[in-house]
Amino acid sequence: MLQTELGSIDAVTSALERKRPGVASHCLRVSAYAVRLATQYGLGSDDIETIRLGGLLHDVGKMLVPSRILDKPGRPNAREWQELKIHPELGVEIAHRSGFDDEVCGIVLYHHERYDGSGYPDGLSGRAIHYLVRIVSVMDTFDALTSPRDYRERLTPEAARAVIARGAGTKFCPWVVSGFLALPLDLLMPASDEASVVAGQPEGAVSLSPDQFAQPWLLRAESYQFSAC
Ligand SMILES: [Fe+2]
Repeated sequence: MLQTELGSIDAVTSALERKRPGVASHCLRVSAYAVRLATQYGLGSDDIETIRLGGLLHDVGKMLVPSRILDKPGRPNAREWQELKIHPELGVEIAHRSGFDDEVCGIVLYHHERYDGSGYPDGLSGRAIHYLVRIVSVMDTFDALTSPRDYRERLTPEAARAVIARGAGTKFCPWVVSGFLALPLDLLMPASDEASVVAGQPEGAVSLSPDQFAQPWLLRAESYQFSAC
């Protein structure tokens, strides 16, 4: 099964890289950030692998969104936005047919759900959204905010963290935001147009070292009951 999945992830990410290199780079960064946060929560190896694969695949449905929408300069109009919003459903088809399990598929399908129920496609809220999905959602938003768009400046990591902090308890799970805010800033490198897909990790990524995670962070993480999230 592992071999099958490794084969599939290579095949799917290669296809995404060929067709939508910018999306592929974004997926790589989100996967790396989400793995870092999940690791610091002490999640098990199965969860870490699920979040790695889910992060890599979360926007794979954008392969099937027309270029006229995805590459259009400026903000999408209302109709284009509706077409964009089906990418999680397109993506889960690809992930499912490629043999990924339900948890990985869940990340693909639900990464735009929001804690307060304001997301899509199903309007799930709170604990109905799997905790791995909630982690990917925050990292997805962080990378989007720190990436350039032709209709707005990219935010600095500090500014993006502030935006996400303001969304704790509404758009984002407060438990995830708490851990996210405690990640050292140098583990949240700004997105770069040059981020290398080949390298397999965000440009400028640094290695985790235990002393980068101060005791207050650990205490905070331990104060959350994982099963309660
Ligand atoms: Fe997405």
